[in-house]
Amino acid sequence: MAGRLAGKVAIVTGAASGIGRTTSELFAAEGAKVMCADINEALVKEVVAGINAKAPGAAIASKVDVGRPEDIERMVAETVKAFGKLNVLYANAGIGDAATAESLSIEGWNRMIAINLTSVWLSAKYALPHMIAAGGGSIVNQSSLAGLIGVPSLPHYAAAKAGVIGLTRQIAVEYGPKKIRCNAICPGTIYTPLVAAVWDKRGVGYGATPGSSLAEQKVQAGMNNPIQRMGEVEDCANLALFLASDESGWITGTAMPLDGGRSAA
Ligand SMILES: NC(=O)c1ccc[n+]([C@@H]2O[C@H](COP(=O)([O-])OP(=O)(O)OC[C@H]3O[C@@H](n4cnc5c(N)ncnc54)[C@H](O)[C@@H]3O)[C@@H](O)[C@H]2O)c1
Repeated sequence: MAGRLAGKVAIVTGAASGIGRTTSELFAAEGAKVMCADINEALVKEVVAGINAKAPGAAIASKVDVGRPEDIERMVAETVKAFGKLNVLYANAGIGDAATAESLSIEGWNRMIAINLTSVWLSAKYALPHMIAAGGGSIVNQSSLAGLIGVPSLPHYAAAKAGVIGLTRQIAVEYGPKKIRCNAICPGTIYTPLVAAVWDKRGVGYGATPGSSLAEQKVQAGMNNPIQRMGEVEDCANLALFLASDESGWITGTAMPLDGGRSAA
């Protein structure tokens, strides 16, 4: 199948839902073989069945808890065993939570850093040797607008996502000569189960009026950027596709805002 990722093998973590699900489907539609990894085994198997119904053999599923280093190592090994090589890593899996710097517990901090930052490093650690062996590759790390600017009630999340940006630059600089590119995506708010959980915990969406309906909150939350809407999962999948593909061959070490222009304001 021809496509923008034709002939490439990709791993997507957090592939069962939201951004990771849509990106896995897009990568496969563009010709990639995709390892869809997620802690939610039932849901990720559904995603893979949907992909393979359209493109037989394009995807495999694996139950992976990115909080467990041994799971990440196995995920990479399973990918190479099934598809013979590795060209693209989209380290997307993550969790959301709301707290203040005062109310946050040490357990909450450590869990967030493990799932949203340490896992990104470990995914690269195990993927890099295979990408180098393949003659090069592209690592796309999922950061957040909260990694670039301050956002209330996300001290642990913001710290983890800012850490992802530092790690991204470091990998870009060290592995560029080995033909590995590494970029981070920094999305503003896209309504997914992750964001729903944070809004539930805070009792209101960002920039929204307390007591307003969910539909109203989505509209209000979208007014904080010049394009005046919230993001869609497709916005992020399209950027991940570009960064994964050879079209972005001279782009590395970036932390790209995907935020309707909010960070430009
Ligand atoms: N939605 C947004 O507004 C937004 C904004 C900025 C960044 N992000 C980032 O995008 C990524 C995807 O988030 P989403 O909005 O699509 O959320 P989502 O909840 O729809 O998807 C996250 C996926 O990660 C999986 N996951 C969670 N913990 C895991 C673990 N320990 N091991 C393996 N998989 C695990 C979940 O099962 C789920 O399928 C996250 O890293 C998130 O921080 C999201």
